[in-house]
Amino acid sequence: MIKIFWENYGKRTEKIIQALKRPSEKYAIRVNTLKTTTKEVLQIFHDMHVGAELHPILEEVIDLPVDGPFEIPEYQKKVVVDKFTAESLMQGADLFAPGVLRTAKVRIGDKVTIFAKSGEIVAAGMAKMTANDMLKKRRGLAVGVTDSIYKVFGIRDSDLFKKGFIFDQSLPSIVVSKVLEPKSNDFIIDMCAAPGGKATHLAQLMRNKGHILAVDRSAPRLKRLEEHVTRLGIKNIELLRGDSRNLPEEYSHKADKILIDPPCSALGVRPKLFQGNKDIINTANYQRHFLRSAVKYVKPKGTLVYSTCTLTTEENEANVKFLLDNFDCEIIDQPIFLGSPGEKIEGLSNWQKLQRFYPDMHETPGYFIGKIRMQS
Ligand SMILES: C[S@@+](CC[C@H](N)C(=O)[O-])C[C@H]1O[C@@H](n2cnc3c(N)ncnc32)[C@H](O)[C@@H]1O
Repeated sequence: MIKIFWENYGKRTEKIIQALKRPSEKYAIRVNTLKTTTKEVLQIFHDMHVGAELHPILEEVIDLPVDGPFEIPEYQKKVVVDKFTAESLMQGADLFAPGVLRTAKVRIGDKVTIFAKSGEIVAAGMAKMTANDMLKKRRGLAVGVTDSIYKVFGIRDSDLFKKGFIFDQSLPSIVVSKVLEPKSNDFIIDMCAAPGGKATHLAQLMRNKGHILAVDRSAPRLKRLEEHVTRLGIKNIELLRGDSRNLPEEYSHKADKILIDPPCSALGVRPKLFQGNKDIINTANYQRHFLRSAVKYVKPKGTLVYSTCTLTTEENEANVKFLLDNFDCEIIDQPIFLGSPGEKIEGLSNWQKLQRFYPDMHETPGYFIGKIRMQS
């Protein structure tokens, strides 16, 4: 991973890695304005003595404080978890059984220390099931986390979340849906939609009007999107389980706008535990399938927004260049620009109109957003 950063960022690598090891200073919450107002949610946070603040620019965003780093107590009993679970435990999430890789001799009520597979201590807590159940049942609460390196308000357990008033989503991810500028009479395809942060935001911006086709090939992830749709009171999202590289013919050149947020190497996600590499070239090639496909389903003169939560030029600017080299389209300005211009790569003009969020510069995860208009 360090090699990839070095190839892309040279001497800046160390700064980027240091920033990625900790979460952003603020945790963004999107208020679901279909059900409530930012003012009402801010008041509820204040009543709970949570130091919430309105985002200075985005009217639907509230920033919550992230506290830490804290020391984690080391108990005799250990639980080892996978990388993604470890990264969420670092910010105070509870441990559910599917994240457990190894443990032994743990009984209900035992105090346990939780380790990432790579050996770092990420949290500690009280076991809610035996070691045997953690490994065999593969579902349910395994450990109630009491100590984590960082602490953020427990959003997913809150009434605000259960009532559908809020969605926890990183700031650049919130910017993505705004950049697409959805209108209430649009037909929009979200090609990689689950678990639905961006699709549900689009629905909110469209005031529950128009039509969003939210496609994802993963059934469990689509199920999570469906739960969010219900919780948030959304009526204009149609769910489709399928492969966006090959959608039904009826959608050919039908969409006013398309969002392409494909799987990526996720090198911008933070806090990050550093482990093995995804093959960047293969990943970038896979992403190109979605871009090709988007050209087929968008209307003439329609708009595409392409986003990733990663930092490599291969998956970002080079993929936009691929689109421009092969199809009749242009990079256009983004209405919300809170990041930095894209990376300059050979043969790509208007790279300044692409938007990057860098962990070492913006106190956000690393992100990329490109907006493209079809010419014909
Ligand atoms: C980065 S995630 C999308 C996150 C989502 N846009 C959000 O804001 O919550 C990428 C998604 O692409 C889906 N995916 C991967 N290959 C796909 C394919 N061929 N067709 C449709 N979805 C695919 C994955 O299941 C995953 O849910």
